[in-house]
Amino acid sequence: MRGFGVQGTTSSPPSTVRPANLPAAGGTSVTRAVEPRAARCDTSPVTPPQPRPFGTVDELLTVLDDRRGGDVVTALDHHLQCAALLALDAPGDVDLQVAGLVHDVASSVQPRPSGDHAPAGADLVRGLLGDRVADLVAGHVDAKRYLVTVEPAYRLVLSENSTATLVLQGEAMGTDELAAFERAPLREDWVRLRRADDRAKVVGAAVPGLAHWRPKLEGLARC
Ligand SMILES: [Fe+2]
Repeated sequence: MRGFGVQGTTSSPPSTVRPANLPAAGGTSVTRAVEPRAARCDTSPVTPPQPRPFGTVDELLTVLDDRRGGDVVTALDHHLQCAALLALDAPGDVDLQVAGLVHDVASSVQPRPSGDHAPAGADLVRGLLGDRVADLVAGHVDAKRYLVTVEPAYRLVLSENSTATLVLQGEAMGTDELAAFERAPLREDWVRLRRADDRAKVVGAAVPGLAHWRPKLEGLARC
């Protein structure tokens, strides 16, 4: 079995109660809150329902337990591997590790073909996990664009899916975007998260499961 040198548990599911508006893992889509439709004669444009932010750690863990196919590995395995890599790279930075654990959670809540899952994920976790975790999540796609811009060879490490979504996400940065990214206080941590994101796609890697992360999530949770 391949791994990152992390001794840990398997990815057994947490003992959580699934909210009624969430499908079981393996379902076809997850829409956590659906606004009531307008009256039947309302001809105004239909706006897609907007997921509501996570209110509890249990709710978040339920959505993270997403065994559907993702990019090479399942969404759950990808998140667990990313968090485990960051625990090795930044053992004292729980915010960064947890950001790795949740960085693509918006895609488990609702498919996001427009490539905006980073800001959407930040909105989902900000109230529960705090501004730094949310800001780290928000920046992980811009970090990919940054690395594409400053390291031409970086494109070679991107998976097929990451290469395809790069087009939707804006490709390489322009001069002003690059300067703004390089001025940002979180720049180094965004890049750290991004590099873990790119590596967290190893089929069969042995990493700690969701239960390992519950205390860390509860330590950050505001409710
Ligand atoms: Fe990812």
